[in-house]
Amino acid sequence: MNFKIAVLPGDGIGPEVMAEGTQVLSQVARLYGFSVELEQGIVGGASIDAHGKPLIDPVLSLAKHSDAVLLGAMGGPKWDGLDYSIRPERALLALRQELGLFANLRPVKLFSALASASTLKREVVEGTDLLVVRELTGGIYFGQPKGITKLADGTERGVNTEVYTTPEIERIAHVAFRAAQKRRKKVTSVDKANVLEVTELWRKVVSRIHKNEGYAGIELEHILVDNCAMQLIRNPRQFDVLVTTNMFGDILTDEASVLAGSMGMLPSASLGEAGMGSSDVRRIGLYEPIHGSAPDIAGKGVANPIGTILSAALMLRYSLRLEEAAVCIEKAVDETITNGARTADLGGKLSTRQMTDEIIKYL
Ligand code: IPM
Ligand code: MG
Repeated sequence: MNFKIAVLPGDGIGPEVMAEGTQVLSQVARLYGFSVELEQGIVGGASIDAHGKPLIDPVLSLAKHSDAVLLGAMGGPKWDGLDYSIRPERALLALRQELGLFANLRPVKLFSALASASTLKREVVEGTDLLVVRELTGGIYFGQPKGITKLADGTERGVNTEVYTTPEIERIAHVAFRAAQKRRKKVTSVDKANVLEVTELWRKVVSRIHKNEGYAGIELEHILVDNCAMQLIRNPRQFDVLVTTNMFGDILTDEASVLAGSMGMLPSASLGEAGMGSSDVRRIGLYEPIHGSAPDIAGKGVANPIGTILSAALMLRYSLRLEEAAVCIEKAVDETITNGARTADLGGKLSTRQMTDEIIKYL
């Protein structure tokens, strides 16, 4: 078994955490008898510096022709002044869209040893184990019309449009229900159906899929996004799978990361249609930690590599179909944390490198 992985370190702490993620991946490959061919590509700010734009065709093509894409982080103050159309973030949006990665899975699981690392009380966060299924290629991020236009009186008008069509909602609903079947069998669909027609449709379609497509064993509830934001930090244990729109998912997952002690801990997987639901087809996916490029600590070797290392585990699970190898990484991280290893974001002193060495010991 040989897999081709596109490795896109990106900016800021991206290259630092990526070096550790690929290191763990190579170790696990050795243990489980498969090989990974890691091909590097430059994206984001680094690509702007080298080529004048955040994503060049050869890198997009590399991603398309790989079994999976592992990504670090993109962006930084250096590129903040640029026009939106060529900002580093555009590379991420383009990759998601070009690869058709409409389903973003963001598991938020608290390692119990970290219950006191959160700014929230231990009683609140203890036992948190939820999965946010965020729609990733639609909604207000991509809807037309959009843009800024000049008005006759000299002022300007900015527009973005929140759009969802029935098929877009159907497919993300299926992803959520299928994920719930393998978990605690509850789906909470998050919308703003009391105000926004687009999410009135969202609610209607999610309900129909639940009723008509064989998900009777799953409990479905609907919650308004403002209430959800509050419930997440009031009683996170009530949630199993949350399914929501692109922008609500963006906001709620940053909020939910606090439940896990540190944003540095959390991985994510972005998946497309191919092979969805069938267990024998490999499918391309993009895997990245949910944290950003953290320019304030970049180059210091102190970033938490766990978000990237756990993203590599998700890649083994979803794209390479190597469940045992994925679990091996997750268990090693759990043991490392349980035994007290901590990077600075978790109140400890270990460097990025040292944290990884600890994890490798437990593989
Ligand atoms: C995320 C990020 C991205 C998003 C940005 C960098 C475009 O915040 O992955 O959550 O908004 O989707
Ligand atoms: Mg975000």
